[in-house]
Amino acid sequence: MEPSILYIIFSIIEIMLMFMELFFITIFVSLAIYQVKTGVPFVKSKKILINRIKEANILKDNTIFCDLGSGDGSFLYQLAKEFPQVQFVGYEINIFLYIFSKLFNRLPNLKFYHQDFFKVDLSSFDYIYVFLLSSLMEQLVPKIQKEAKKGCYVIVNTFAFKNLQPIKEISSTKPLETLYFYQL
Ligand SMILES: C[S@@+](CC[C@H](N)C(=O)[O-])C[C@H]1O[C@@H](n2cnc3c(N)ncnc32)[C@H](O)[C@@H]1O
Repeated sequence: MEPSILYIIFSIIEIMLMFMELFFITIFVSLAIYQVKTGVPFVKSKKILINRIKEANILKDNTIFCDLGSGDGSFLYQLAKEFPQVQFVGYEINIFLYIFSKLFNRLPNLKFYHQDFFKVDLSSFDYIYVFLLSSLMEQLVPKIQKEAKKGCYVIVNTFAFKNLQPIKEISSTKPLETLYFYQL
């Protein structure tokens, strides 16, 4: 007997739902695995911080800005749209977040790499953005001090460096909305 058209449609929907379920489980498991591996959860920087960076008025044309741990790339995408004359580079260790960034955040002045930022040479950047937890921030200090070029700005979301003095701070009483600006 021929299967009814309704049966075929329901089977297709069921298979699609199964794949979607599998996709979300994979993303969820990967986020959990990478969080344990790196000690940092994936949390997006808030959009309001784009305005705070604009307000700081430090981004100049023909410079390079990098995000160490670029997540899903959406924060860097917003910035790259606001500053078309600045080159933006994101390094992300989670392969799924990296693929997402590559697929959904396309701009001529924006590049993503699937790479551990501890293995990246920081010497070519004019701005380094970090939104990580305190323990990892402290591990980054010697690398930044050794490699980053003189005059490079380090922009830190919320978790300030313990023993470095920011040249500027844009604070907020709301969580995850404070920015610290350091200059080497
Ligand atoms: C709090 S999220 C910030 C995401 C993005 N920068 C933003 O502000 O929206 C930190 C990201 O850093 C990534 N990460 C942690 N350690 C890393 C490492 N050693 N190399 C590359 N990425 C790393 C995590 O996978 C996570 O996506």
